[in-house]
Amino acid sequence: MSAVNIAVLVSGGGTNLQALLDSQRVGTLKSGRITLVVSNNADAYALRRAEAAGVAAKAIVRAVFPSQEAFEDALLDALDEAGAELVILAGFLSILSRRFTERYPRRILNIHPSLIPSFCGKGFYGLRVHEAALAYGVKVTGATVHFVNEVPDGGEILLQKAVDVLPGDTPETLQRRVMEQAEWILLPQAAELVSQNIMKEKETNDRSS
Ligand code: GRF
Repeated sequence: MSAVNIAVLVSGGGTNLQALLDSQRVGTLKSGRITLVVSNNADAYALRRAEAAGVAAKAIVRAVFPSQEAFEDALLDALDEAGAELVILAGFLSILSRRFTERYPRRILNIHPSLIPSFCGKGFYGLRVHEAALAYGVKVTGATVHFVNEVPDGGEILLQKAVDVLPGDTPETLQRRVMEQAEWILLPQAAELVSQNIMKEKETNDRSS
């Protein structure tokens, strides 16, 4: 049975995308194959990373479309065209509507740089998450991979990993530690786990048809 077809949506630097591409290269991500990377920011370095890895990459920019609905339709068309079976949000900064998420029930993953339900939801993205964790004074933070539904950072949790906050941390040092010790490990693990489950479902469906 062929590997699960994965599309990755990005907005920025793409270090989480790189972790996925690297795990595919070394074979720890083996049940899924990244076939498409889409960015909502035409200048995202993540697009260069995709190209360097020989993966199809395209920009679909919200400002070009008259509405969020039209933007999401363009995203859905690109996913359909690529035959995506699993969608991974890797630092994708646009909130997707229910109309979109319902098209891929338990088939969209997101990585969030905190231990949900702390420091998550609308407005908690990028450095803001780590600023909030430091302002609150938590001693442990981390990252969460969860399924995506219409509630920002509200879908079922799949994996979490804790990371220590250290004295003297800045939002930048904390962000880096959370990426290195949690995000770049968890996201490829989650991609393999869900891909394996999708493969099993496909095998069961094949046997019963
Ligand atoms: C990561 O911290 C991710 O968890 C968050 O945005 C950041 C994106 O980083 N949602 P990158 O584009 O993967 O380097």
